[in-house]
Amino acid sequence: MSLAIVPGSFDPLTMGHLDLIRKAAKRYDEVVVAVMVNPAKRYCFDMKTRLEIARLSVADIPRVSVIADRGLLIDLYDRLGAKAVCKGWRNEEDYAYEIRMADWNRAHNPRFRTELIHSRGEFADLSSTAVRQKLLRGEIPEGWVHPNALQIVLTKLKKGESET
Ligand code: PNS
Repeated sequence: MSLAIVPGSFDPLTMGHLDLIRKAAKRYDEVVVAVMVNPAKRYCFDMKTRLEIARLSVADIPRVSVIADRGLLIDLYDRLGAKAVCKGWRNEEDYAYEIRMADWNRAHNPRFRTELIHSRGEFADLSSTAVRQKLLRGEIPEGWVHPNALQIVLTKLKKGESET
């Protein structure tokens, strides 16, 4: 039985993340999507909402579950008996960042294995930031998040303000 973790902030989980999760599910028997906290970030959606969006988004993918974790990824890794952490990368900047994270995690847990998966195709440029910016402009990020999660995501839609 092989288990992989797909960790992230998922603020919110996008169709790009879903593509990564599906790829991870092809390579491992079980995939745990871990909604975590990056101390360097301020979040648009609170943990409960990020978790709910993630759960609705993966509901139709077999062998994939979603958990919330506020601790360290290196600890979660051992607790779940994971074989790998799968992270996606879109460009050089992502890649350099993920290599640094992978090195840090391995330095603190020698069992830690990171599998970097390149995002290609339709969702290659998609990001949670792009979804949030669309919401801020009052636009609907249709096609960028899973249709089942769209209603919750739209609670952050900026309503037009009348000028005075
Ligand atoms: O989607 P993100 O923000 O790139 O995800 C980053 C995340 C949440 C995976 C990363 O910040 C993380 O591993 N957080 C858990 C806390 C931890 O292990 N910190 C030590 C490394 S910074």
